Amino acid sequence: MKEQKSTDVRMEGRVCIVTGADSGVGFETSLQLAGNGAHLVMVCCSRMLGEQAKTKIQAAAKGPVDLILADLSSMDEVRKLARTLLDRYPKIHVLINNAGLYNTRRIVTVDGFEAVFAVNYLAVFLLTHLLLDRIKESAPSRILNVSSKGHQFGGLDLNDLNWKKRKYRGLKGYGASKTAAIMFTRELGHRLKGTGVTVVAAHPGEVRSNIGLNNGIVYRTFRKLVIDRMLQPTSHAGAAMYYLAASPDVESRSGRYFNMTHLEKPFPRALDRSVARTLWLVSEQLTGLVAPSTPA
Ligand SMILES: NC(=O)c1ccc[n+]([C@@H]2O[C@H](COP(=O)([O-])OP(=O)(O)OC[C@H]3O[C@@H](n4cnc5c(N)ncnc54)[C@H](OP(=O)(O)O)[C@@H]3O)[C@@H](O)[C@H]2O)c1
Repeated sequence: MKEQKSTDVRMEGRVCIVTGADSGVGFETSLQLAGNGAHLVMVCCSRMLGEQAKTKIQAAAKGPVDLILADLSSMDEVRKLARTLLDRYPKIHVLINNAGLYNTRRIVTVDGFEAVFAVNYLAVFLLTHLLLDRIKESAPSRILNVSSKGHQFGGLDLNDLNWKKRKYRGLKGYGASKTAAIMFTRELGHRLKGTGVTVVAAHPGEVRSNIGLNNGIVYRTFRKLVIDRMLQPTSHAGAAMYYLAASPDVESRSGRYFNMTHLEKPFPRALDRSVARTLWLVSEQLTGLVAPSTPA
């Protein structure tokens, strides 16, 4: 593994929101932020897991730690979360869209979306949009979209974002969601030029988290016996995500993709701006940010 960069910059007075803060990459990133003085806002799906993680983080925190519950597979819950965040926090300096999942089979959300696409991408798109004015008012500010090297698996099809026409494959479904997250980051980077808001996407490393453990026994056994042995501790990812959230070196890298703390070129399929623009328009409609266009 390449040597990773780090920063001495502290986060006192900075309001930092982390989704999926109770486990894996999100937990370790939260620990780093709180330990460096941030006002940490943990967004978690489960009250029990959220409270347990909050207790551990508070023990190391040098600033306030809040917990807000939201199931990000529901676009209504994303809206409710955004309203709560806007009510409570006059400034939002860092938004880390980290929550994510991996499914081996197609599962459909309450809104009728394929679940991995909904949580890993649509919720990111919607939450970021709903908070964007506040994030701009809080500049210099930062948005970090936790993507994945797994975007290399592809799978993004603008004509079948919900996997109704194709057989669902875990790696492809995951790849599609992470490709979409990188495309969104790149497009948002263009649109945020001159605002003082930096947006980046990142692969957090290959680390031993709980991702995928919601799947069946065959996958879980393979994960435990084969994959986990090759993975790093989640603290590596937390340190890298902290660097991306805090380091001044990242400020001028808006729209870019990092492999941990190093800039990397994403796979070519994530670089197509015309696909990114179409995806943006479709996502605005899917998330209800704009009304669906009706034929004249
Ligand atoms: N681990 C790796 O090697 C790796 C590599 C590349 C990218 N990533 C990315 O890193 C991010 C974090 O994953 P991880 O590896 O740390 O996995 P993890 O340990 O499973 O953590 C995922 C987090 O997302 C939350 N989450 C999942 N579905 C949610 C929902 N519907 N609403 C709200 N929160 C939800 C989980 O909540 P619960 O605890 O309640 O389930 C958990 O807090 C993901 O975006 C993942 O794709 C991880």
